[in-house]
Order: sequence, then C-alpha cells, then structure tokens
Amino acid sequence: MSAFPATRMRRLRQADWSRRLVRENTLTVDDLVWAVVVSDSADPTEPVAAMPGVERLGLKAMADAARRAEALGIPAMAVFPHIDPARKDEEGKEAFNRDGLVPNAIRTIKDAAPNVGVICDVALDPFTTHGHDGVLKDRMILNDETVTSLIRQSLVQAEAGCDVIAPSDMMDGRIGAIRDALEDSGFSNTMILSYAAKYASGFYGPYREAIGSGAVLQGDKKTYQMDPANTEEALREVALDLDEGADMVMVKPGLPYLDIVRRVSETFGVPTLAFQVSGEYAMIEAAAANGWIDGDRVMMESLMAFKRAGAAGILTYFAPRAAEALNG
Ligand code: PBG
Repeated sequence: MSAFPATRMRRLRQADWSRRLVRENTLTVDDLVWAVVVSDSADPTEPVAAMPGVERLGLKAMADAARRAEALGIPAMAVFPHIDPARKDEEGKEAFNRDGLVPNAIRTIKDAAPNVGVICDVALDPFTTHGHDGVLKDRMILNDETVTSLIRQSLVQAEAGCDVIAPSDMMDGRIGAIRDALEDSGFSNTMILSYAAKYASGFYGPYREAIGSGAVLQGDKKTYQMDPANTEEALREVALDLDEGADMVMVKPGLPYLDIVRRVSETFGVPTLAFQVSGEYAMIEAAAANGWIDGDRVMMESLMAFKRAGAAGILTYFAPRAAEALNG
C-alpha cells in the first residue's frame, strides 16, 4: 500500500454511494432469529421488568407474534418457556409433557406461520424447582442422567413439530445421544443447533426473571457452563458437537464473546450462530431509556458487529424491531 497522500482512506468514505459500494458486511432480516418467551399464565401478555419491550406471550399472543415474524420475513423463532411454578419439580418432568407449554407453543407457531422455523431450547432449567439445567443430586448436576432427560425432552419437541432442537445445557455427549434418538425415532430431518460454546455468564440475569428460574436457582452453573477466561476450550466443545452431529453451533453470550464467534466460524466453516442474550439487550435498553445512547442505532450497530465477526445468524430479542428497521 502506498503511503499518504497517494492513499487517503477517507476518499472512499466521502459519499453515501461509495460507502455502500465498498461495504464489507451486510445485515439482513435473514440473519435474525427472534428469541421469544412463552407463558402458561392466564394473562395474555406479561411484561418482563428487566427487559423493557419484551413480554411473556400467552399462546394467542404467540400466534400473533408468529404471523408478525412471517410478515417481516424473520426466518425463525427461538422459544423459551415460563411455566407455572406449581408445575415444577426436582427432575423437571414437565419437560416431558407432550401437552406442555413448549409443545403447544410449537404447534401454535406452526399453525399460525408454517414457514417460520421453530427452534426450541433443550435444558431443564425452566422446569426444575432448583433452576439448574440438569438432574441435581448432592449438589452436583449428574451428566449422564441429565442426557437421558434431554433425549426425552428433545423427542417431545420433535414430535410436536419443532424444526431445530437446541440443547443449551452443556452436558457432555448430549448431541450424539439426541442425534441417535432422533434418527431412531424417524426424525432424521430434525436439525440440531448446539449451544456448543456457552459460558457461565452474568449476562443471563434478566433471562432468569423472564422464565422465572432466577428466584429459585441454587448456586451457579460453573460446573457445566464454560469459564469466561477460555478460548481453546470453546474450539474443543465445538469440534465434539460437530462430530456428534450438530448441524449448527452457537456461541453465547454474544457481543462480549465475538472473539469466539470469529475463531469458531473461521476454524470450522460451519453455520455459527451467536446469541445476543438478555443482559446485552437490557444494557442497551437501559442506556437508551436514560437518553445516554441512541437505542435504535446501537441495536443495529451491535447486530452488524455479529456479522463482522462471522456469525451466520443472531438470536436476539430485538429481531422484530431490527427487521422493521431493515425493511424500511
Ligand atoms: C438455559 C438457558 C439460559 C439462556 C438460554 N437458555 C440461561 C442459563 O443458561 O442460565 C439465556 C438466554 C438469555 O440470557 O437471553 N439453559
């Protein structure tokens, strides 16, 4: 590269047309997955205090949301349940209920908007009285017993019509076990999106309010979720999950872990999704509500950052707002 003044980097930045012409990355509606919270409450919708603008949706509201997603061109919705605490138990058995909230939400979305993909979280935390993702015994989360439960939960979701099973529990060996079970049960087309590099993060705080597991969580999740200090371990996790049959992998949280998104997408060349989690959403909304940042602008900038890092798609609570902005 020749030096100044032959090279003036600002030349290309001087006009909108030239900025557009040389732009390296684009964000489109196709990149968005709408993270939604479904509730079995009698109320049609309920606000989530820590996530202004996000509501828990009853099934009627979920049908409306699905039609909205379809109209906006959002490819898929990722469903997270808030269930009546009375339905929770030690083992999270409600996760196996064929007539439970998640299977009903899947059918509701598929009825309302057949072309919208449905992604379901697989983990026991919305269903357990202790708020952990797995089977708890003597203050430890049992790996293999949990995998048995996750298989049952996955099959219930697949039967209800879920397109993408998304294990977010971080047990070892669960992707292969779930893949085998899906194949054996005739669900060879059901996709698996593995939360492969999922960190033990404080950024999930508002989510625990959203699904109602925060008040009950005993201890932390550090014996199964990853240490925020680690990178190489994320690559090992992803390699294992791909080997076991994951179709797509996820990095979570998102913005603070863009280095991981970049390493994973570059190393493996597989569809790498990132989750802009509840705390990331809440921080942007809180600053915007105070007038400290321009919320819409930061929303779009944060989503573009995921694309720049190599993400194939972004799970985000902003999806409908971002889609509206992108659709003009
Ligand atoms: C649970 C799960 C969590 C999230 C998605 N699935 C929380 C956790 O692991 O404690 C977080 C989502 C968010 O913060 O938006 N398996």
